[in-house]
Amino acid sequence: MSNVVLGVGGGIAAYKVASLLRLFTEHGHDVTVVPTASALQFVGAPTWSALSGKPVATDVWSDVARVPHVRIGQQADLVVVAPATADLIARAAAGMADDLLTTTLLTASCPVVFAPAMHTEMWLHPATQANVATLVGRGVHVIPPASGRLTGADTGPGRLPEPGDLYAACLHLLESAAPAAPSRGVLAGRHVVVSAGGTREPLDPVRFLGNRSSGKQGYALAAVAAARGARVTLVSANVTLPVPAGVDVVEVGTAIELQDAVTRAAKDADVVVMAAAVADFRPRTVASSKIKKTHAETVAGPDESAPTIELVRNPDILAGLVQARGDRARGDRLRPIVVGFAAETGDAAGSVLDLAREKLVRKGCDLLVANEVGDGVAFGTDTNTVHLFYRPGLAGAPGERTAGPAPKEAIAAVVWDGIQPLL
Ligand code: CTP
Repeated sequence: MSNVVLGVGGGIAAYKVASLLRLFTEHGHDVTVVPTASALQFVGAPTWSALSGKPVATDVWSDVARVPHVRIGQQADLVVVAPATADLIARAAAGMADDLLTTTLLTASCPVVFAPAMHTEMWLHPATQANVATLVGRGVHVIPPASGRLTGADTGPGRLPEPGDLYAACLHLLESAAPAAPSRGVLAGRHVVVSAGGTREPLDPVRFLGNRSSGKQGYALAAVAAARGARVTLVSANVTLPVPAGVDVVEVGTAIELQDAVTRAAKDADVVVMAAAVADFRPRTVASSKIKKTHAETVAGPDESAPTIELVRNPDILAGLVQARGDRARGDRLRPIVVGFAAETGDAAGSVLDLAREKLVRKGCDLLVANEVGDGVAFGTDTNTVHLFYRPGLAGAPGERTAGPAPKEAIAAVVWDGIQPLL
């Protein structure tokens, strides 16, 4: 696991960084916390020390024999500064070295991430923006602040992003930057197709039948595959997330459009991962103008009439991919490897895992990634818990496994770890 330095600046958002620290340690990373003196006004040294399992220092005069102001930076795989205050950003941009965190920043040769958080006026001030530009110009990764409620009643850009989002971004950097990481480049020369998001089936020009999929897990799968060297085609259904670096995106709306795009991209693919939530049904007809209600109030009461929407089945894209790739009995080389996702709520017919095992057999895919969904679970959230099931008798398949709850980036890494032995 990685050596992470967590530099904490003197802002109120320091309290959120305690959760970020926990995410790192719970996933086995070794974290050295380096707060500034003003950070300790917000969250005290005992908290950082207890959560990291190490003593903390703010100046260069503790433990001098071990030369911490040089050693901590040199040994780091990643330095994360959160919250990065306007003052800390200015000191880092000027190359100052007046405490343990700024000396660490000058000695680190690993990736460095700044997560700024401050009031909107301070963030937008030309001085801060110029300092941020200086840091970016030197290769520092800056995670822009989120917009929303600030410490007082005011709102605007300046909020520290949620710990799960910060962790996901840091993990992605660790994966893509670590030259010795065993996963680096393992998908080089491979073409992978990932579908993400949720289809929308139109009823009329303004309405559709849709679902709650945010696309976060599919986007994380695409990002991790690209970081591991694959050529990635991301077939994206109604997702508003930023496109991961190095990924080709094909935007689609409906299940039929998604089928066309996936089938086309799958022709020369090594792996297809169907993470999209595809509507099983679509309206038989799509009205060419907005469906209006009638206004036929009678003496007997108000008009309660409502239209009936007739649905027809959409194609099962996953099952179609499995059928199209050939016949094992004829000795065909089974490509692409087909991976399905099963979003299950569990019901009277069985538990999430029972339903997923049954779905694996029915769909015939090589790997089924089952996750539990429902109100507030998985859809739209930043974490996920998944179970990996392989087609019985599949050559090279590792055993079933469970992962999470973990950020969707970490789950994506587990899923690719589970696919790679099949290639
Ligand atoms: N899927 C697909 N085409 C569909 C429906 C689903 O390719 N028309 C894919 C999804 O992308 C996912 C997997 O099939 O990888 C399972 O999706 P899910 O909605 O969980 O299953 P369903 O096939 O809809 O089965 P059920 O209605 O029994 O839950």
